[in-house]
Amino acid sequence: MSGADGGPLAIVLAAGLGTRMRSRRPKVLHPVCGRPMLAHVLDAARAVGSRPPLVVYSPATAAIRDAFEGRARFALQAETLGTADALRAALQVAPADVDECVVLSGDVPLLRPATVQRLVALRRAAAATVAITVAHPPDPRGYGRVVRDPDGQVAGIVEEKDADPATRAVGEVNAALYAFDAAWVRARIGEIGPSPSTGEYYLTGLIAMARAEGGSVVALELEDDGELAGVNDRVQLAAAEAQLRRRIVEAHMLAGVTMLDPGSVLVDADVEIAPDVVLEPGVVLQGRTRIGTDTVVGSGSRIVDSVVGERCRIWSSVIESSEVGDDVRVGPWAHLRPGASVGDRAEVGNFAEIKSSRLGPGSKQHHFSYLGDATIGEHVNIGAGTITCNYDGTAKHPTTIGDGAFIGSDTMLVAPVTVGPGARTGAGSVVTHDVPPGMLAVGVPARLRHPRVPAPREPEDPGPTA
Ligand code: UD1
Ligand code: CA
Repeated sequence: MSGADGGPLAIVLAAGLGTRMRSRRPKVLHPVCGRPMLAHVLDAARAVGSRPPLVVYSPATAAIRDAFEGRARFALQAETLGTADALRAALQVAPADVDECVVLSGDVPLLRPATVQRLVALRRAAAATVAITVAHPPDPRGYGRVVRDPDGQVAGIVEEKDADPATRAVGEVNAALYAFDAAWVRARIGEIGPSPSTGEYYLTGLIAMARAEGGSVVALELEDDGELAGVNDRVQLAAAEAQLRRRIVEAHMLAGVTMLDPGSVLVDADVEIAPDVVLEPGVVLQGRTRIGTDTVVGSGSRIVDSVVGERCRIWSSVIESSEVGDDVRVGPWAHLRPGASVGDRAEVGNFAEIKSSRLGPGSKQHHFSYLGDATIGEHVNIGAGTITCNYDGTAKHPTTIGDGAFIGSDTMLVAPVTVGPGARTGAGSVVTHDVPPGMLAVGVPARLRHPRVPAPREPEDPGPTA
């Protein structure tokens, strides 16, 4: 039944402008739970077999091709004359050995891969010309209505704009997922005429055509009519987002994640969360974020494209494109900017900011400070108000601080500068030259002295999170 090479071909219709979105961006590139709508549809499309899916785009939506190059094949629909014309454009470039095709809409992002597989199986089992997917949503408005014969057979699909009041009263709708006998659809797609009311070429016209010539049409009823959700405007985008978000957080909870208020938690589709993580209300986890076991992410935290280790405590903080080790405390109100790397057992406290810097294991940066382009060793204490003056208005410069160093409160480290292992700086010092290991730098500009007491191995301040 399936093609010699890879089984059915999945065709994704995505050439429409999506004018109701009122956006400069093609509709299918709008994100749903952190991934473009089309990425979700392609996941479902890949469930049908090993052939790369074929995405139909148009000159006005060429950005789709740029965004998905290498992840799909593409067919150009020169003018967006309707879904039948889009399918025709796809079939023109479809491999010749395809004998079965599945058609999906780029704007229906909640379809599950298993649903697509069930549809293919249903058409094969019935040896039908066409298999369609239907649902009975609470509100059928906007969808094509499924018209049945008195004996219950699907007779056709009527678009809402073309429907008379009796047809509009039908509660069964077209979910825009189809499986076709490829030879049949290749032969017939050119025969669809324009709709008298809109002038568009409707793919849904194929259903009545198949019946009229005695072919069989079978219908798969969606188990979850939430999968139907088509996105045509931003209200529907928000509804799809809410529904997918609910699926995502439920899957995480069932996999062992505690959420005190799941409705307020936003977790993108690609986020990984280990069991026994606790997410407090209002947490946002985005992009390719991973959270390790037993970590607690506190209210108001946003973590984007970052890895957080095990047993961490993140309080009301922002972490972007950064790495956090195990047993780390962050916040409240800390900001790890791209390229921050925080070692095991380190502590980053109130109003601390780190950018493109490594804070070594066991080091502490508790209060009101900034580390940029810095490499900080182990068990370093960064005093309150310490700043790496890494930018001279033209270029960024590095700061290096050795293991066990003690940076006094309000130290300005004028980069490039190195503070050696075990060295100290006095409160309020402005360090413009390197401080050798074990030495003390004090004053403005800082001068070197031999310290009367060596730098403490462990900072004495246990910090606000102890
Ligand atoms: C379509 C179905 C409707 C169904 C609904 C489910 C048709 C005629 N109607 O309506 O029965 O209930 O989906 O969501 O198919 N597209 C192209 N080229 C075009 C026009 C559209 O590629 O020339 C693409 C769009 O980008 C979109 C998809 O086809 O991804 C569906 O088009 P859309 O205009 O959104 O159809 P609906 O009115 O939602
Ligand atoms: Ca649509």
